[in-house]
Amino acid sequence: MLQGEEHLWPEQLEWIEERIAEAAPTPAQIVSENLTDAETRRWAAAGYDLVFEELAMECSLAGDLPPVRWPPGTAILEWDAGAPSASFEVYQAAFRSRPGFPGWSQSEWIDSLTSEEIFLPSASFCAVHDAKPFGFVVCGTGWIGQVGVDPGYRRMGLATALVTEARARMRALGIGVAYLHVNRNNPAGLATWQHLGWRECGRRGRLERAVTSDATDTI
Ligand SMILES: CC(C)(COP(=O)(O)OP(=O)(O)OC[C@H]1O[C@@H](n2cnc3c(N)ncnc32)[C@H](O)[C@@H]1OP(=O)(O)O)[C@@H](O)C(=O)NCCC(=O)NCCS
Repeated sequence: MLQGEEHLWPEQLEWIEERIAEAAPTPAQIVSENLTDAETRRWAAAGYDLVFEELAMECSLAGDLPPVRWPPGTAILEWDAGAPSASFEVYQAAFRSRPGFPGWSQSEWIDSLTSEEIFLPSASFCAVHDAKPFGFVVCGTGWIGQVGVDPGYRRMGLATALVTEARARMRALGIGVAYLHVNRNNPAGLATWQHLGWRECGRRGRLERAVTSDATDTI
Protein backbone atom coordinates (compact mmCIF):
# COMPACT_ATOMS: atom_id res chain seq x y z
CA MET A 1 0.00 0.00 0.00
CA LEU A 2 1.41 3.40 -0.98
CA GLN A 3 2.32 5.76 1.83
CA GLY A 4 -0.47 8.29 2.30
CA GLU A 5 -3.15 5.86 1.03
CA GLU A 6 -3.54 3.94 4.30
CA HIS A 7 -7.13 5.16 4.69
CA LEU A 8 -8.02 2.73 1.87
CA TRP A 9 -6.92 -0.26 3.96
CA PRO A 10 -10.27 -1.18 5.62
CA GLU A 11 -11.99 -1.26 2.24
CA GLN A 12 -9.12 -3.19 0.66
CA LEU A 13 -9.08 -5.71 3.50
CA GLU A 14 -12.83 -6.22 3.21
CA TRP A 15 -12.46 -6.93 -0.53
CA ILE A 16 -9.61 -9.39 0.15
CA GLU A 17 -11.57 -11.15 2.91
CA GLU A 18 -14.50 -11.64 0.53
CA ARG A 19 -12.21 -13.30 -2.04
CA ILE A 20 -10.67 -15.47 0.68
CA ALA A 21 -14.12 -16.50 1.88
CA GLU A 22 -15.03 -17.55 -1.69
CA ALA A 23 -11.84 -19.54 -2.29
CA ALA A 24 -11.58 -20.88 1.28
CA PRO A 25 -7.82 -21.62 1.12
CA THR A 26 -6.27 -23.42 4.08
CA PRO A 27 -4.40 -21.60 5.36
CA ALA A 28 -5.17 -18.19 3.86
CA GLN A 29 -1.91 -16.83 2.46
CA ILE A 30 -0.81 -13.33 1.60
CA VAL A 31 2.38 -12.74 -0.38
CA SER A 32 3.90 -9.28 -0.24
CA GLU A 33 6.71 -8.30 -2.60
CA ASN A 34 7.17 -4.96 -0.87
CA LEU A 35 6.78 -5.65 2.82
CA THR A 36 7.00 -2.86 5.39
CA ASP A 37 6.66 -2.89 9.18
CA ALA A 38 3.38 -0.97 8.84
CA GLU A 39 2.03 -3.60 6.43
CA THR A 40 3.07 -6.43 8.74
CA ARG A 41 1.21 -4.71 11.59
CA ARG A 42 -1.94 -4.23 9.47
CA TRP A 43 -1.99 -7.91 8.54
CA ALA A 44 -1.25 -8.94 12.14
CA ALA A 45 -4.30 -6.97 13.28
CA ALA A 46 -6.33 -8.99 10.75
CA GLY A 47 -5.00 -12.26 12.22
CA TYR A 48 -2.14 -13.02 9.81
CA ASP A 49 1.28 -14.16 11.05
CA LEU A 50 4.47 -13.45 9.16
CA VAL A 51 5.76 -16.97 8.40
CA PHE A 52 8.45 -16.18 5.84
CA GLU A 53 10.50 -13.07 5.32
CA GLU A 54 13.49 -12.33 3.15
CA LEU A 55 15.46 -9.24 2.29
CA ALA A 56 16.30 -8.19 -1.24
CA MET A 57 19.84 -6.89 -1.42
CA GLU A 58 21.73 -5.17 -4.19
CA CYS A 59 25.32 -4.47 -5.08
CA SER A 60 26.74 -2.27 -7.81
CA LEU A 61 29.16 -3.99 -10.15
CA ALA A 62 30.66 -0.66 -11.24
CA GLY A 63 33.97 0.64 -9.93
CA ASP A 64 36.91 -1.39 -8.73
CA LEU A 65 36.20 -4.91 -7.56
CA PRO A 66 38.47 -6.29 -4.84
CA PRO A 67 40.90 -9.01 -5.95
CA VAL A 68 39.59 -12.57 -5.59
CA ARG A 69 41.48 -14.32 -2.78
CA TRP A 70 40.88 -18.08 -2.86
CA PRO A 71 41.89 -20.21 0.11
CA PRO A 72 45.23 -21.85 -0.87
CA GLY A 73 44.81 -25.02 -2.95
CA THR A 74 41.39 -24.06 -4.38
CA ALA A 75 40.48 -25.27 -7.87
CA ILE A 76 37.36 -24.24 -9.79
CA LEU A 77 34.92 -26.61 -11.51
CA GLU A 78 32.87 -24.85 -14.17
CA TRP A 79 29.16 -25.55 -14.57
CA ASP A 80 29.60 -27.58 -17.77
CA ALA A 81 32.52 -29.56 -16.29
CA GLY A 82 31.11 -31.27 -13.23
CA ALA A 83 29.99 -28.34 -11.03
CA PRO A 84 26.29 -29.36 -10.74
CA SER A 85 26.84 -32.65 -8.89
CA ALA A 86 29.82 -31.33 -6.89
CA SER A 87 27.76 -28.28 -5.88
CA PHE A 88 24.85 -30.48 -4.80
CA GLU A 89 27.18 -32.26 -2.38
CA VAL A 90 28.14 -28.89 -0.84
CA TYR A 91 24.52 -27.68 -0.91
CA GLN A 92 23.39 -30.61 1.22
CA ALA A 93 26.18 -30.08 3.77
CA ALA A 94 25.73 -26.28 3.83
CA PHE A 95 21.94 -26.02 3.93
CA ARG A 96 20.89 -29.18 5.81
CA SER A 97 20.63 -27.31 9.11
CA ARG A 98 18.70 -24.36 7.64
CA PRO A 99 15.02 -24.17 8.67
CA GLY A 100 12.75 -25.64 6.02
CA PHE A 101 15.54 -27.59 4.25
CA PRO A 102 13.50 -29.35 1.56
CA GLY A 103 15.57 -32.54 1.17
CA TRP A 104 15.44 -32.36 -2.62
CA SER A 105 17.09 -34.86 -4.92
CA GLN A 106 19.99 -33.58 -7.03
CA SER A 107 17.79 -33.10 -10.08
CA GLU A 108 15.10 -31.27 -8.09
CA TRP A 109 17.72 -28.93 -6.64
CA ILE A 110 19.38 -28.26 -10.00
CA ASP A 111 15.99 -27.68 -11.58
CA SER A 112 15.01 -25.19 -8.88
CA LEU A 113 18.05 -23.06 -9.70
CA THR A 114 18.50 -23.49 -13.43
CA SER A 115 15.09 -23.94 -15.04
CA GLU A 116 14.42 -20.23 -15.56
CA GLU A 117 15.78 -18.32 -18.53
CA ILE A 118 17.72 -16.04 -16.19
CA PHE A 119 20.14 -18.87 -15.19
CA LEU A 120 23.73 -17.90 -15.98
CA PRO A 121 26.00 -20.97 -16.19
CA SER A 122 29.08 -18.86 -16.99
CA ALA A 123 28.88 -17.30 -13.49
CA SER A 124 27.95 -20.54 -11.69
CA PHE A 125 30.72 -22.80 -10.43
CA CYS A 126 32.03 -24.98 -7.64
CA ALA A 127 35.22 -24.59 -5.58
CA VAL A 128 37.17 -27.76 -4.82
CA HIS A 129 39.94 -28.38 -2.28
CA ASP A 130 42.02 -31.60 -2.47
CA ALA A 131 39.36 -33.11 -4.74
CA LYS A 132 36.63 -32.26 -2.20
CA PRO A 133 33.94 -29.78 -3.28
CA PHE A 134 33.70 -27.15 -0.52
CA GLY A 135 31.85 -24.14 -1.90
CA PHE A 136 29.57 -23.18 -4.78
CA VAL A 137 27.69 -20.27 -6.28
CA VAL A 138 24.79 -20.41 -8.75
CA CYS A 139 23.91 -17.18 -10.57
CA GLY A 140 21.30 -15.72 -12.87
CA THR A 141 21.73 -12.63 -15.01
CA GLY A 142 22.20 -9.94 -12.34
CA TRP A 143 21.29 -12.39 -9.56
CA ILE A 144 23.15 -14.44 -7.00
CA GLY A 145 20.78 -17.40 -6.78
CA GLN A 146 22.50 -19.43 -4.07
CA VAL A 147 25.87 -19.62 -2.29
CA GLY A 148 26.94 -22.36 0.08
CA VAL A 149 30.13 -23.28 1.92
CA ASP A 150 30.74 -26.63 3.62
CA PRO A 151 30.52 -26.09 7.42
CA GLY A 152 34.09 -27.43 7.83
CA TYR A 153 35.51 -24.61 5.68
CA ARG A 154 33.70 -21.52 6.89
CA ARG A 155 35.20 -18.15 7.88
CA MET A 156 38.14 -18.72 5.53
CA GLY A 157 36.91 -16.16 3.01
CA LEU A 158 35.50 -18.75 0.60
CA ALA A 159 32.03 -17.17 0.20
CA THR A 160 33.79 -13.83 -0.26
CA ALA A 161 35.92 -15.30 -3.05
CA LEU A 162 32.98 -17.09 -4.72
CA VAL A 163 30.82 -13.96 -4.74
CA THR A 164 33.64 -11.65 -5.83
CA GLU A 165 34.46 -13.97 -8.73
CA ALA A 166 30.76 -14.19 -9.69
CA ARG A 167 30.48 -10.39 -9.57
CA ALA A 168 33.55 -10.05 -11.82
CA ARG A 169 32.11 -12.56 -14.32
CA MET A 170 28.76 -10.75 -14.40
CA ARG A 171 30.44 -7.41 -14.84
CA ALA A 172 32.48 -8.80 -17.75
CA LEU A 173 29.10 -9.54 -19.40
CA GLY A 174 28.06 -5.88 -19.05
CA ILE A 175 25.75 -6.38 -16.06
CA GLY A 176 25.73 -3.25 -13.85
CA VAL A 177 23.94 -4.33 -10.65
CA ALA A 178 23.45 -7.67 -8.92
CA TYR A 179 20.63 -8.66 -6.56
CA LEU A 180 19.92 -11.51 -4.17
CA HIS A 181 17.43 -12.63 -1.54
CA VAL A 182 18.47 -13.63 1.95
CA ASN A 183 16.15 -14.99 4.61
CA ARG A 184 15.72 -12.78 7.64
CA ASN A 185 16.38 -15.83 9.86
CA ASN A 186 19.88 -16.32 8.40
CA PRO A 187 22.30 -14.20 10.46
CA ALA A 188 25.44 -15.74 8.89
CA GLY A 189 24.09 -15.03 5.39
CA LEU A 190 23.10 -11.48 6.31
CA ALA A 191 26.48 -10.83 7.95
CA THR A 192 28.26 -12.11 4.84
CA TRP A 193 26.34 -9.84 2.48
CA GLN A 194 26.78 -6.83 4.72
CA HIS A 195 30.50 -7.58 5.02
CA LEU A 196 30.68 -7.65 1.21
CA GLY A 197 28.99 -4.26 0.90
CA TRP A 198 25.53 -5.37 -0.28
CA ARG A 199 22.68 -3.09 0.80
CA GLU A 200 19.05 -3.84 1.56
CA CYS A 201 16.73 -2.65 -1.21
CA GLY A 202 13.44 -4.30 -0.30
CA ARG A 203 11.65 -7.00 1.66
CA ARG A 204 9.26 -9.73 0.70
CA GLY A 205 7.23 -11.97 2.90
CA ARG A 206 4.44 -14.48 3.23
CA LEU A 207 1.75 -14.13 5.87
CA GLU A 208 -0.66 -16.85 6.85
CA ARG A 209 -3.84 -17.10 8.84
CA ALA A 210 -4.69 -20.54 10.08
CA VAL A 211 -8.26 -21.42 9.28
CA THR A 212 -9.98 -22.79 12.33
CA SER A 213 -13.63 -23.78 12.34
CA ASP A 214 -14.38 -20.56 14.26
CA ALA A 215 -12.45 -18.44 11.78
CA THR A 216 -14.20 -20.13 8.86
CA ASP A 217 -17.53 -19.26 10.40
CA THR A 218 -16.66 -15.63 10.78
CA ILE A 219 -15.30 -15.09 7.24
C1 LIG B 1 26.78 -17.70 4.57
C2 LIG B 1 27.99 -18.55 4.14
C3 LIG B 1 27.91 -18.77 2.63
C4 LIG B 1 29.27 -17.77 4.48
O1 LIG B 1 30.38 -18.51 4.00
P1 LIG B 1 31.89 -18.26 4.52
O2 LIG B 1 32.82 -18.84 3.51
O3 LIG B 1 32.01 -18.74 5.91
O4 LIG B 1 31.98 -16.65 4.49
P2 LIG B 1 33.33 -15.79 4.52
O5 LIG B 1 34.42 -16.55 5.19
O6 LIG B 1 33.61 -15.28 3.15
O7 LIG B 1 32.88 -14.60 5.49
C5 LIG B 1 33.01 -13.25 5.13
C6 LIG B 1 32.54 -12.37 6.26
O8 LIG B 1 31.12 -12.51 6.45
C7 LIG B 1 30.80 -12.42 7.84
N1 LIG B 1 30.32 -13.72 8.33
C8 LIG B 1 30.30 -14.90 7.66
N2 LIG B 1 29.75 -15.87 8.43
C9 LIG B 1 29.44 -15.29 9.60
C10 LIG B 1 28.85 -15.77 10.81
N3 LIG B 1 28.49 -17.08 10.95
N4 LIG B 1 28.66 -14.90 11.82
C11 LIG B 1 29.01 -13.61 11.70
N5 LIG B 1 29.59 -13.09 10.58
C12 LIG B 1 29.79 -13.92 9.55
C13 LIG B 1 32.11 -12.05 8.55
O9 LIG B 1 32.21 -10.62 8.52
C14 LIG B 1 33.14 -12.67 7.62
O10 LIG B 1 34.41 -12.06 7.74
P3 LIG B 1 35.41 -12.54 8.92
O11 LIG B 1 35.43 -14.05 8.94
O12 LIG B 1 36.71 -11.92 8.53
O13 LIG B 1 34.84 -11.97 10.21
C15 LIG B 1 28.03 -19.91 4.92
O14 LIG B 1 27.88 -19.66 6.30
C16 LIG B 1 26.94 -20.89 4.48
O15 LIG B 1 27.14 -21.68 3.55
N6 LIG B 1 25.78 -20.86 5.16
C17 LIG B 1 24.65 -21.78 4.84
C18 LIG B 1 24.08 -21.48 3.48
C19 LIG B 1 23.63 -20.02 3.39
O16 LIG B 1 23.01 -19.50 4.31
N7 LIG B 1 23.94 -19.38 2.24
C20 LIG B 1 23.60 -17.99 2.01
C21 LIG B 1 22.18 -17.89 1.65
S1 LIG B 1 21.79 -16.21 1.18
